[in-house]
Amino acid sequence: MDVKPKILVARRAPAAVLEKLSAHFDVDCHAGDAPLSPEELRARLQGKAGVYITGTERITAELLDACPALRAVCTMTVGYNHIDLAACTARRVLVSNTPDVLTETTADFGFALLMATARRMSEGERLLRDGGWKSWAWDFLAGSEVHGTTLGILGMGRIGQAIARRGRFGFRMKVIYHNRSPLPAGIEAELDARRVAKDELLRQADHLVLVLPYSAESHHCIAAAELALMKPTATLVNIARGGIVDEDALAAALRERRIAAAGLDVFEGEPRVNPALLTLPNVVLTPHIASATMPTRLAMAHLAADNLVAALTGAAPPTPLNPEVLSA
Ligand code: DGY
Repeated sequence: MDVKPKILVARRAPAAVLEKLSAHFDVDCHAGDAPLSPEELRARLQGKAGVYITGTERITAELLDACPALRAVCTMTVGYNHIDLAACTARRVLVSNTPDVLTETTADFGFALLMATARRMSEGERLLRDGGWKSWAWDFLAGSEVHGTTLGILGMGRIGQAIARRGRFGFRMKVIYHNRSPLPAGIEAELDARRVAKDELLRQADHLVLVLPYSAESHHCIAAAELALMKPTATLVNIARGGIVDEDALAAALRERRIAAAGLDVFEGEPRVNPALLTLPNVVLTPHIASATMPTRLAMAHLAADNLVAALTGAAPPTPLNPEVLSA
Protein backbone atom coordinates (compact mmCIF):
# COMPACT_ATOMS: atom_id res chain seq x y z
CA MET A 1 0.00 0.00 0.00
CA ASP A 2 1.32 3.45 -0.98
CA VAL A 3 2.16 5.69 1.93
CA LYS A 4 0.37 9.03 1.57
CA PRO A 5 2.49 12.20 1.82
CA LYS A 6 2.00 14.03 5.11
CA ILE A 7 0.60 17.56 5.09
CA LEU A 8 -0.38 20.16 7.68
CA VAL A 9 -3.59 22.17 7.46
CA ALA A 10 -2.56 25.02 9.71
CA ARG A 11 -6.01 26.52 10.35
CA ARG A 12 -9.59 25.27 10.63
CA ALA A 13 -10.83 24.48 7.11
CA PRO A 14 -14.17 23.44 5.54
CA ALA A 15 -15.03 19.74 5.97
CA ALA A 16 -15.27 19.20 2.20
CA VAL A 17 -11.77 20.58 1.78
CA LEU A 18 -10.35 18.31 4.49
CA GLU A 19 -12.10 15.38 2.79
CA LYS A 20 -10.55 16.32 -0.56
CA LEU A 21 -7.10 16.57 1.00
CA SER A 22 -7.51 13.32 2.96
CA ALA A 23 -8.07 11.42 -0.30
CA HIS A 24 -4.45 12.18 -1.21
CA PHE A 25 -2.63 12.92 2.01
CA ASP A 26 -2.11 11.95 5.60
CA VAL A 27 -3.61 15.15 7.04
CA ASP A 28 -2.61 16.75 10.33
CA CYS A 29 -5.12 19.57 10.95
CA HIS A 30 -4.79 22.32 13.50
CA ALA A 31 -8.48 22.85 14.05
CA GLY A 32 -8.25 25.71 16.53
CA ASP A 33 -9.15 29.28 15.71
CA ALA A 34 -6.02 30.70 17.32
CA PRO A 35 -3.11 30.47 14.91
CA LEU A 36 -0.19 28.20 15.80
CA SER A 37 2.79 30.06 17.25
CA PRO A 38 5.92 30.07 15.04
CA GLU A 39 7.41 27.38 17.32
CA GLU A 40 4.28 25.21 17.13
CA LEU A 41 4.17 25.65 13.35
CA ARG A 42 7.79 24.55 13.02
CA ALA A 43 7.18 21.50 15.23
CA ARG A 44 3.97 20.49 13.38
CA LEU A 45 5.72 20.86 10.00
CA GLN A 46 8.39 18.27 10.71
CA GLY A 47 8.19 15.55 8.06
CA LYS A 48 5.37 17.36 6.18
CA ALA A 49 5.56 17.67 2.38
CA GLY A 50 2.95 20.39 2.14
CA VAL A 51 1.18 23.03 4.17
CA TYR A 52 -2.20 24.74 3.74
CA ILE A 53 -2.11 28.14 5.41
CA THR A 54 -4.00 31.41 5.70
CA GLY A 55 -2.60 34.91 6.15
CA THR A 56 -1.78 34.31 9.80
CA GLU A 57 1.08 31.83 9.30
CA ARG A 58 4.47 33.27 8.34
CA ILE A 59 6.69 31.21 6.08
CA THR A 60 10.25 32.44 6.50
CA ALA A 61 13.64 31.26 5.25
CA GLU A 62 14.43 30.05 8.78
CA LEU A 63 11.26 28.01 8.91
CA LEU A 64 11.98 26.47 5.51
CA ASP A 65 15.49 25.53 6.66
CA ALA A 66 14.02 23.87 9.74
CA CYS A 67 11.48 21.91 7.63
CA PRO A 68 13.50 20.38 4.78
CA ALA A 69 10.75 17.94 3.74
CA LEU A 70 8.42 20.82 2.76
CA ARG A 71 7.69 20.96 -1.00
CA ALA A 72 4.52 23.09 -1.24
CA VAL A 73 3.08 26.09 0.59
CA CYS A 74 -0.51 26.84 -0.41
CA THR A 75 -2.18 29.90 1.07
CA MET A 76 -5.92 30.47 1.12
CA THR A 77 -5.38 34.18 0.41
CA VAL A 78 -4.61 36.30 -2.60
CA GLY A 79 -2.05 38.38 -0.65
CA TYR A 80 1.18 36.56 0.06
CA ASN A 81 3.30 39.04 2.00
CA HIS A 82 3.39 36.48 4.85
CA ILE A 83 5.45 34.14 2.67
CA ASP A 84 9.09 34.67 1.74
CA LEU A 85 8.56 33.81 -1.92
CA ALA A 86 12.21 34.20 -2.90
CA ALA A 87 13.30 31.86 -0.09
CA CYS A 88 10.71 29.30 -1.21
CA THR A 89 11.80 29.54 -4.84
CA ALA A 90 15.47 29.20 -3.87
CA ARG A 91 14.59 25.96 -2.05
CA ARG A 92 12.30 24.76 -4.86
CA VAL A 93 9.20 24.95 -2.67
CA LEU A 94 6.07 25.60 -4.74
CA VAL A 95 3.94 28.51 -3.50
CA SER A 96 0.36 29.21 -4.58
CA ASN A 97 -2.31 31.77 -3.66
CA THR A 98 -6.02 32.21 -4.50
CA PRO A 99 -6.46 35.02 -7.06
CA ASP A 100 -9.62 35.71 -9.13
CA VAL A 101 -12.13 33.78 -7.01
CA LEU A 102 -12.36 36.65 -4.51
CA THR A 103 -12.12 39.64 -6.87
CA GLU A 104 -15.78 40.64 -7.17
CA THR A 105 -16.65 39.89 -3.54
CA THR A 106 -13.71 41.95 -2.30
CA ALA A 107 -14.61 44.79 -4.66
CA ASP A 108 -18.21 44.72 -3.35
CA PHE A 109 -16.88 45.13 0.16
CA GLY A 110 -14.40 47.84 -0.83
CA PHE A 111 -17.24 49.84 -2.33
CA ALA A 112 -19.49 49.18 0.67
CA LEU A 113 -16.75 50.46 2.98
CA LEU A 114 -16.33 53.54 0.81
CA MET A 115 -20.07 54.21 1.04
CA ALA A 116 -20.24 53.56 4.79
CA THR A 117 -17.30 55.88 5.34
CA ALA A 118 -18.47 58.71 3.11
CA ARG A 119 -22.05 58.56 4.38
CA ARG A 120 -21.14 58.13 8.07
CA MET A 121 -23.16 54.94 8.48
CA SER A 122 -21.31 53.48 11.47
CA GLU A 123 -21.35 56.82 13.24
CA GLY A 124 -25.09 57.08 12.65
CA GLU A 125 -25.79 53.58 13.92
CA ARG A 126 -23.67 54.11 17.04
CA LEU A 127 -25.50 57.35 17.77
CA LEU A 128 -28.91 55.74 17.26
CA ARG A 129 -28.14 52.72 19.46
CA ASP A 130 -26.77 55.04 22.16
CA GLY A 131 -30.07 56.96 22.21
CA GLY A 132 -28.52 60.07 20.68
CA TRP A 133 -31.09 60.52 17.86
CA LYS A 134 -33.24 63.38 19.07
CA SER A 135 -34.60 65.03 15.93
CA TRP A 136 -34.02 65.86 12.29
CA ALA A 137 -31.64 68.72 11.46
CA TRP A 138 -30.51 69.96 8.07
CA ASP A 139 -26.86 69.09 8.66
CA PHE A 140 -27.39 66.04 10.91
CA LEU A 141 -24.71 63.44 10.01
CA ALA A 142 -24.19 65.10 6.64
CA GLY A 143 -21.43 63.23 4.84
CA SER A 144 -19.59 63.37 1.52
CA GLU A 145 -21.10 62.85 -1.92
CA VAL A 146 -20.19 59.61 -3.70
CA HIS A 147 -21.90 59.68 -7.13
CA GLY A 148 -20.21 61.87 -9.69
CA THR A 149 -17.07 62.42 -7.59
CA THR A 150 -13.48 61.39 -8.29
CA LEU A 151 -12.50 57.86 -7.33
CA GLY A 152 -8.78 57.33 -6.84
CA ILE A 153 -7.32 53.84 -6.83
CA LEU A 154 -3.83 53.08 -5.62
CA GLY A 155 -2.94 49.64 -7.00
CA MET A 156 -4.93 48.90 -10.14
CA GLY A 157 -4.84 45.10 -10.18
CA ARG A 158 -7.87 42.85 -10.58
CA ILE A 159 -9.62 44.10 -7.41
CA GLY A 160 -8.78 47.74 -8.14
CA GLN A 161 -10.30 47.40 -11.61
CA ALA A 162 -13.44 45.75 -10.19
CA ILE A 163 -13.88 48.67 -7.76
CA ALA A 164 -13.29 51.15 -10.58
CA ARG A 165 -16.01 49.41 -12.60
CA ARG A 166 -18.48 49.84 -9.74
CA GLY A 167 -17.57 53.51 -9.40
CA ARG A 168 -17.67 54.26 -13.11
CA PHE A 169 -20.83 52.42 -14.10
CA GLY A 170 -22.79 52.37 -10.82
CA PHE A 171 -21.99 55.87 -9.59
CA ARG A 172 -20.79 57.83 -12.66
CA MET A 173 -17.49 58.54 -10.93
CA LYS A 174 -14.40 59.83 -12.65
CA VAL A 175 -11.68 57.20 -12.20
CA ILE A 176 -8.00 58.01 -11.72
CA TYR A 177 -5.35 55.52 -10.63
CA HIS A 178 -1.72 55.09 -9.82
CA ASN A 179 0.03 51.84 -10.61
CA ARG A 180 3.57 50.81 -11.47
CA SER A 181 2.47 49.81 -14.96
CA PRO A 182 -0.37 51.29 -17.00
CA LEU A 183 -3.51 49.29 -17.63
CA PRO A 184 -3.92 47.83 -21.12
CA ALA A 185 -5.41 50.54 -23.35
CA GLY A 186 -8.67 48.59 -23.79
CA ILE A 187 -9.32 48.46 -20.02
CA GLU A 188 -8.38 52.13 -19.58
CA ALA A 189 -10.86 52.99 -22.31
CA GLU A 190 -13.60 50.75 -20.85
CA LEU A 191 -13.24 52.36 -17.42
CA ASP A 192 -12.45 55.80 -18.81
CA ALA A 193 -9.63 55.65 -16.26
CA ARG A 194 -6.57 57.89 -16.28
CA ARG A 195 -3.19 56.91 -14.83
CA VAL A 196 -1.70 59.76 -12.80
CA ALA A 197 1.34 60.36 -10.59
CA LYS A 198 0.87 59.34 -6.96
CA ASP A 199 0.87 62.98 -5.75
CA GLU A 200 -1.80 63.90 -8.28
CA LEU A 201 -3.89 60.92 -7.19
CA LEU A 202 -3.69 62.07 -3.58
CA ARG A 203 -4.54 65.66 -4.49
CA GLN A 204 -7.48 64.91 -6.78
CA ALA A 205 -9.26 61.92 -5.27
CA ASP A 206 -12.48 62.54 -3.36
CA HIS A 207 -12.36 58.88 -2.32
CA LEU A 208 -9.05 57.05 -2.32
CA VAL A 209 -9.05 53.25 -2.17
CA LEU A 210 -5.86 51.32 -1.37
CA VAL A 211 -5.66 47.96 -3.12
CA LEU A 212 -1.95 47.54 -3.68
CA PRO A 213 0.13 44.57 -2.51
CA TYR A 214 2.07 44.98 0.72
CA SER A 215 5.87 44.86 0.46
CA ALA A 216 8.92 46.67 1.85
CA GLU A 217 8.31 49.21 -0.90
CA SER A 218 4.67 49.90 -0.01
CA HIS A 219 5.25 49.90 3.80
CA HIS A 220 3.74 53.16 5.16
CA CYS A 221 3.42 54.56 1.67
CA ILE A 222 0.47 56.52 3.03
CA ALA A 223 1.98 58.55 5.88
CA ALA A 224 1.85 62.16 7.09
CA ALA A 225 3.27 63.68 3.87
CA GLU A 226 0.81 61.81 1.67
CA LEU A 227 -2.18 62.55 3.92
CA ALA A 228 -1.22 66.23 3.83
CA LEU A 229 -1.77 66.24 0.06
CA MET A 230 -5.34 64.92 0.32
CA LYS A 231 -8.44 67.11 0.27
CA PRO A 232 -9.90 67.93 3.70
CA THR A 233 -13.17 66.49 2.40
CA ALA A 234 -11.57 63.25 1.15
CA THR A 235 -12.10 59.74 2.45
CA LEU A 236 -9.48 56.99 2.55
CA VAL A 237 -10.33 53.28 2.33
CA ASN A 238 -7.84 50.48 2.97
CA ILE A 239 -8.72 46.90 2.04
CA ALA A 240 -5.15 45.85 1.18
CA ARG A 241 -2.84 45.41 4.18
CA GLY A 242 -2.57 47.49 7.35
CA GLY A 243 1.15 48.14 7.00
CA ILE A 244 0.55 50.28 3.91
CA VAL A 245 -0.77 53.09 6.13
CA ASP A 246 1.06 54.82 8.98
CA GLU A 247 -1.83 54.51 11.44
CA ASP A 248 -0.52 57.12 13.89
CA ALA A 249 -0.31 59.66 11.08
CA LEU A 250 -3.78 58.67 9.87
CA ALA A 251 -5.27 58.99 13.36
CA ALA A 252 -3.76 62.49 13.66
CA ALA A 253 -5.12 63.52 10.24
CA LEU A 254 -8.60 62.24 11.15
CA ARG A 255 -8.55 63.85 14.58
CA GLU A 256 -7.54 67.22 13.15
CA ARG A 257 -10.03 66.79 10.27
CA ARG A 258 -7.25 67.16 7.70
CA ILE A 259 -9.13 64.42 5.85
CA ALA A 260 -12.83 63.75 6.40
CA ALA A 261 -12.95 60.06 7.20
CA ALA A 262 -11.39 56.63 6.73
CA GLY A 263 -12.67 53.08 6.30
CA LEU A 264 -10.24 50.37 7.35
CA ASP A 265 -10.62 46.61 6.97
CA VAL A 266 -6.96 45.85 7.64
CA PHE A 267 -4.56 46.91 10.37
CA GLU A 268 -0.86 46.84 11.05
CA GLY A 269 -0.46 44.21 13.77
CA GLU A 270 -4.05 42.90 13.47
CA PRO A 271 -6.08 41.66 15.26
CA ARG A 272 -4.74 44.41 17.51
CA VAL A 273 -6.10 47.79 16.43
CA ASN A 274 -4.18 51.02 17.05
CA PRO A 275 -5.98 52.50 20.11
CA ALA A 276 -5.83 55.98 18.59
CA LEU A 277 -8.18 54.82 15.82
CA LEU A 278 -10.67 53.28 18.24
CA THR A 279 -11.50 56.64 19.82
CA LEU A 280 -12.25 58.50 16.58
CA PRO A 281 -15.83 58.91 15.28
CA ASN A 282 -14.83 59.45 11.65
CA VAL A 283 -13.36 56.04 10.96
CA VAL A 284 -15.23 52.86 10.04
CA LEU A 285 -13.43 49.77 11.32
CA THR A 286 -14.06 46.21 10.13
CA PRO A 287 -12.14 43.02 11.05
CA HIS A 288 -10.45 41.99 7.76
CA ILE A 289 -13.60 40.59 6.15
CA ALA A 290 -13.48 41.97 2.59
CA SER A 291 -13.51 38.49 1.01
CA ALA A 292 -15.80 36.99 3.64
CA THR A 293 -18.87 35.59 1.95
CA MET A 294 -19.48 31.88 2.30
CA PRO A 295 -19.32 31.09 -1.46
CA THR A 296 -16.10 33.07 -1.89
CA ARG A 297 -14.38 31.66 1.20
CA LEU A 298 -15.32 28.13 0.05
CA ALA A 299 -13.95 28.86 -3.43
CA MET A 300 -10.71 30.15 -1.90
CA ALA A 301 -10.40 27.10 0.38
CA HIS A 302 -10.99 24.67 -2.50
CA LEU A 303 -8.53 26.49 -4.75
CA ALA A 304 -5.84 26.33 -2.07
CA ALA A 305 -6.50 22.60 -1.65
CA ASP A 306 -6.48 22.01 -5.42
CA ASN A 307 -3.10 23.72 -5.61
CA LEU A 308 -1.75 21.50 -2.83
CA VAL A 309 -3.04 18.30 -4.40
CA ALA A 310 -1.59 19.23 -7.80
CA ALA A 311 1.75 20.38 -6.39
CA LEU A 312 2.34 17.09 -4.57
CA THR A 313 0.91 14.72 -7.17
CA GLY A 314 2.86 15.97 -10.19
CA ALA A 315 -0.04 17.86 -11.81
CA ALA A 316 -0.04 21.54 -12.75
CA PRO A 317 -1.23 23.71 -9.82
CA PRO A 318 -4.00 26.08 -10.98
CA THR A 319 -2.55 29.28 -9.50
CA PRO A 320 1.16 28.96 -8.69
CA LEU A 321 3.22 32.02 -7.71
CA ASN A 322 6.57 30.48 -8.62
CA PRO A 323 5.82 28.01 -11.43
CA GLU A 324 9.52 28.05 -12.30
CA VAL A 325 10.20 25.59 -9.46
CA LEU A 326 8.11 23.00 -11.31
CA SER A 327 10.35 22.98 -14.35
CA ALA A 328 13.65 23.47 -12.50
C1 DGY B 1 -6.43 37.90 1.04
O1 DGY B 1 -6.94 36.98 0.38
O2 DGY B 1 -5.28 38.29 0.86
C2 DGY B 1 -7.27 38.49 2.11
O3 DGY B 1 -6.73 39.64 2.62
C3 DGY B 1 -7.48 37.46 3.20
O4 DGY B 1 -8.79 37.35 3.43
